[in-house]
Amino acid sequence: MALMRLLVVVAVAAAVAASCRPALADPAVSALPGLPVAGLAVGFYNESCPQVEDLVLAEMRAFVEKDRTLGPAMLRFMFHDCLARGCDASLMLKSRSHKGEQDAASSYGLRGYDEIEQIKAKVEAACPLTVSCADIIALAARDAVYLSNGPRYAVETGRRDGKVSAKFDAENDLPPPSSNIVDLKTYFSVKGLGWKDLVVLSGSHTIGSAQCSTFASDRLYNFSGKGVQDQSLDKAYAASLREACEPGLDNDTTSLPMDPTSPYDFDLSYYRHVRGNTGLLLSDQALMDDRWTREYVERMAAAASPDEFFADFAVAMTNMGRLEVLTGGSGEIRETCAAYVD
Ligand code: HEM
Repeated sequence: MALMRLLVVVAVAAAVAASCRPALADPAVSALPGLPVAGLAVGFYNESCPQVEDLVLAEMRAFVEKDRTLGPAMLRFMFHDCLARGCDASLMLKSRSHKGEQDAASSYGLRGYDEIEQIKAKVEAACPLTVSCADIIALAARDAVYLSNGPRYAVETGRRDGKVSAKFDAENDLPPPSSNIVDLKTYFSVKGLGWKDLVVLSGSHTIGSAQCSTFASDRLYNFSGKGVQDQSLDKAYAASLREACEPGLDNDTTSLPMDPTSPYDFDLSYYRHVRGNTGLLLSDQALMDDRWTREYVERMAAAASPDEFFADFAVAMTNMGRLEVLTGGSGEIRETCAAYVD
């Protein structure tokens, strides 16, 4: 227990130190952050499966051409895989007793399981038992960004797949959409991610949608459990949201874009919405409640070019992609990504 507390304190201290750093000069898109992880490298499969990145991109292109909502879904998928028990594809594992990550409340609305499996089948046909599902998830997330006109940043590979999947991990480690800024920073810092990773990765909400059931209560009908609308929400935007999401429907699956201006373009308009009090989730709007994250939102909202955001996004995705990875002799390379843990 004492050790656990110490680890948390050290992680929080490191993240706070990172968060307190003033904004530095922009890193280039290709630049990777410090502290490399042994066993991960850009081009890990250059010899063993040189065609893997082309295969993933071709599959992703086909999926997104057929159904463009799959791009955002695949980006979100990596976040959920990495935050719960690390980037080890444990999200793909199934539990007959409903105790796996897929069964957690935080996994509600996740899509992409079948698509990851289909990509894996293509990769297996070319390079049997070579490429992990965790790497496929990371490459698919990158290509989702690229296919939405975002950056095609370099992705480190070399992860191996875990054999354990616990609902408990996902429920504890993924921030709920009702999180305030203190909660968000804590969830991220426990993983060694700083405020900059938080504000940059939240920019992923520039694509995709959220269901009424995940935000209507918090923002429209029962803010802070008080039966009222969130006063920080722009009034005209709130009125349009109320039309789409009826009160009292806990399971309303109506989906609304998180960036209504350009829901399938990976651009800066998410930050413009947050600055203008038209961020959809409480956790989006919460970025205005901290000096550092607010300054970043405001700078991106005013920026003429997305270059700085794109460069920061490459770094933050690399940071997230390094969380608790299994490399070398740890974990396994499975023939299929899905497998039953019980
Ligand atoms: C900072 C804390 C975060 C919270 C509280 C959060 C919460 C959510 C919620 C509630 C949804 C809507 C789910 C639904 O209603 O179906 C969503 C969607 C999404 N999230 Fe996040 N998220 C966070 C961070 C991230 C990060 C770090 C990424 C990626 C790196 C990400 C990528 C996405 C994407 C792309 C979607 C759209 C999914 C789709 O359209 O299918 N989110 N998020």
